[in-house]
Amino acid sequence: MNDKQFITFFLAVMGVLLIIFFAIFFIAQVVTPDLSKSDEFTSNSIESRIKPVGKLNYSDSNEKLQKSNTKTSQIDPYNNGEEIYNAVCQTCHTTGVLNSPKYGDKPAWQIRLGKGKEVLYANAIKGIGAMPAKGGRPDLSDKLIKFGVDYILESVK
Ligand code: HEC
Repeated sequence: MNDKQFITFFLAVMGVLLIIFFAIFFIAQVVTPDLSKSDEFTSNSIESRIKPVGKLNYSDSNEKLQKSNTKTSQIDPYNNGEEIYNAVCQTCHTTGVLNSPKYGDKPAWQIRLGKGKEVLYANAIKGIGAMPAKGGRPDLSDKLIKFGVDYILESVK
């Protein structure tokens, strides 16, 4: 092999290598997804992928409770303030047993309301004086007891 032949051969090999290089480069471009265009790594999409599966709902807002006819949770045997009052609270609050403030007794409830409705809710739930927690029905939800309180308070508006 003389010099000329060698150079021709050398250039041919270089040419082939160059073609292979571009071919690989091109294939790599085609098979690699363009990350700058996808939203895979935007903060929004990352957040949505790592966000917690559930959220606790702490809101127990008053408006919801005002609607005393709204259904409460499925496990509660009563559907609204009137039903729970008739089934549980009236035992004491209709006649004023144990000195309980009577249903419809405005002055008696006016004094109680001075503490704020939230306090009345809380006391009806955890019990106060001679009144047992939840009027003796711990199986009922807090929400339902609040409906009961709302129902009683409706009578003294
Ligand atoms: C066993 C009798 C009894 C039952 C049943 C009962 N209560 Fe009472 N309740 C009382 C008595 C007694 C008081 C007064 C307690 C005190 O102030 O010492 C009272 C007070 C309350 C008060 C005022 C609390 C405060 O902070 O002043 C609310 C509100 C109330 N009851 C709601 C209810 C509701 C709602 C129910 C039904 C789920 C219910 N009660 C069932 C006896 C009862």
